[in-house]
Amino acid sequence: MSQRVDVHVSKQWLAHLFCRLLSVCLLSVLCIACEDSYRVHIGVSQSSDDGWRRKANREMQAAKYLHENMDLTIYTADNDAQKQVRQVNELIDQGIDLLIVSPIDTLTVVPAVERAYSKGIPVILFDRRLKTNRYTAYIGSDNSQIGKIMGVYVAAHLLGKGKIVELTGDMESSPAQERHEGFMSVMRNYPEVQVTMLKGDWYRDRAYQLMGAYLDTHEVPDVVFGHNDAEAQGAYKAAYERGVAKQICFVGIDGLPGVDEGLDYVAKGILSASCIYPTSGDAVIHMAMEILNNAPFQRERILPTTLVTKENVQLVLGQHEELHRRYSDLEQIYLQTQNYHKLYQNQKLMSVLFFVGILLLVLLLVGIIRTAKAKDRLNKKIQEIADYRLEFLIGVSHRLRTPLTLITGPIAHLLKNSKLKGEERKLLEMTERNVASLARLVENVLSYKEAHPDRELPDFLSDREETGDALRVGNTQQRVRLIAEEKREELPSVLVVDDNADVRAYLQMVLADRYYVMESSDGEAGLAVAKAQVPDIVVSDVMMPVMDGLQFCSRLKEDPVTSHIPVILLTARSMESQRIEGYEHGADAYITKPFSMELLVSRIENLLRNRHHLKQLFTAPVDTNVAREGMQVALEAENVHVSERDKEFISMVRKVIHENMSNPKLRMDDISDQIGLSRVQMYRKVKALTGLAPVELLRTVRLEKARHLLRTTNEPISQVAYAVGFATPSYFTTCFKQEFGMYPADCRENR
Ligand code: FRU
Repeated sequence: MSQRVDVHVSKQWLAHLFCRLLSVCLLSVLCIACEDSYRVHIGVSQSSDDGWRRKANREMQAAKYLHENMDLTIYTADNDAQKQVRQVNELIDQGIDLLIVSPIDTLTVVPAVERAYSKGIPVILFDRRLKTNRYTAYIGSDNSQIGKIMGVYVAAHLLGKGKIVELTGDMESSPAQERHEGFMSVMRNYPEVQVTMLKGDWYRDRAYQLMGAYLDTHEVPDVVFGHNDAEAQGAYKAAYERGVAKQICFVGIDGLPGVDEGLDYVAKGILSASCIYPTSGDAVIHMAMEILNNAPFQRERILPTTLVTKENVQLVLGQHEELHRRYSDLEQIYLQTQNYHKLYQNQKLMSVLFFVGILLLVLLLVGIIRTAKAKDRLNKKIQEIADYRLEFLIGVSHRLRTPLTLITGPIAHLLKNSKLKGEERKLLEMTERNVASLARLVENVLSYKEAHPDRELPDFLSDREETGDALRVGNTQQRVRLIAEEKREELPSVLVVDDNADVRAYLQMVLADRYYVMESSDGEAGLAVAKAQVPDIVVSDVMMPVMDGLQFCSRLKEDPVTSHIPVILLTARSMESQRIEGYEHGADAYITKPFSMELLVSRIENLLRNRHHLKQLFTAPVDTNVAREGMQVALEAENVHVSERDKEFISMVRKVIHENMSNPKLRMDDISDQIGLSRVQMYRKVKALTGLAPVELLRTVRLEKARHLLRTTNEPISQVAYAVGFATPSYFTTCFKQEFGMYPADCRENR
């Protein structure tokens, strides 16, 4: 018991240890993971993909380096307004935290933007405006102001007189509308200036076509104002191809750095002027982060603009170069930081694992020490119990010495009497032998006390019983002994199986009055006797050589010849689990040693009595199922257990009898042949189950069937007699009267 408790505690402790370790590991991993857990997702919808947009996108990406926990998704709608609607909706569905939109036109994307806004997603309009108030902020230049700047520059160039071609951007977009309106607000002051508006789409190719067509049909203008540098460049190309480029002053907007971009064209003198239209992607991301961090922000953030001409273009280019260098440096620093960060994370993970490893080792060590201590305590406890048991045994043994002396002495005295003869002398001699054996055991126990304390328990204290002198001195129930053959048929037969010859002799002596007793010294020999002789009951020891009592019992119950024989297990094994084991092997009763002979006899009687109740099961007519079921209930009520094997046997016998009963020459030998038993086996089994000899059973079954036929049919009595196997109706009538106390004719009248 104490052992179980300790093991349980240490199991619980190990589970506890495991849980702790698991939580430490999880926490550590969580700590590492959590550093990256809070991230914001910003979605950008760009109207198109061109130099100006690409620069803005690069700046946004660079700004991302400053905001570690930010994800940036940039979609480009390729100037397709419906595509932009789809992309904005997709970004919303992705669960973005903030939306940046540069709308293609002022109307198409309004519903999608309002959807985002009503979902609580802040919306920043970038560079272009929408016809809605449902946005969070605007960031971009003042396009009307830019138009004015360009107007003032052109007017000055023309000295208030001349022809201008205005190549607009997409007039559905806000910058084109505002730039035109600003430009015209200046031009209205110069009545001698004539402005022709050509509606473009922001792209070089379209401007090239429009300008070519214009030049082919009109006078060469003095000025071409492109709403962006790309359009001014397209117009320049058309004029150049017609050899009139030198006569025209080209101006544009955007002022991008880079080869063949606006500033390059100003520096080369192809464009007279450009206006810087700042991309400021970094400023857009800053504004987004201000909004997301609930910091104060400007709802209308207007970016500054500058006019670039031949005079200041180098300065502006220098500034751009510097800015580009800084961006490159920033990118480099970012990549390095990323590497360091990864290294740092790895080192952190390693330290956590190292720490967990050490912790595990320490806890394991503590666990081992605790288990060892618990084991030690347990061993001590076991030792204490063993010591206590031994002390107790020795104490009892001491006390046994006196009564043993008082038994040995008188027995020796009685045996000296030469008048003591026969069975009484034998009994007394057996008692003397067993008392001597007991005295030897007592002396062994007492001598053990003086021996080395570590030695194993000696054999005499183990479970094994002594085999008895009768077996030791000779007899090597010839392991099988049959006695008193003449009593065989009169008395119920008992097979005693025990390896102790004294026990066998004692049981033989006591039971011989009432039963025909057979003996076997082990299970295997017992099984052979049981099969050959089919005893009415078996009394068997459990601990035996060759085949133990449990196996013997199972084998008996498995064999159709012996399955009906009740088995009483007689043993010194008194624990409940041992009893259960016995019943599981098919035992009908379990008696522990030392036992009283009265108890054994009463168990034998009881079990034998139960067997005689099965007669009805054989004799009931085959076609009266109801009657049989009724009998089954009656048997159950009387607590008569019939095993499945015995039920099978009964139905087989019934079947064979009923199928053959009309044959007056039918003998029990024919039936036993058909069933596959020997004549003796058949005789004993039927007798054991019904209390009737098989011939009697056959006659009873025939008469029962006849009575049934008389009651249920109108067949003449002679026919009934023949049908159930009687050779002559007169003999049938005699037997019927004997069995039922009435003549067959009376039975029919009374039905
Ligand atoms: C780029 C661009 C620029 C122009 C701006 C107006 O897509 O066409 O050239 O200045 O858009 O929104």
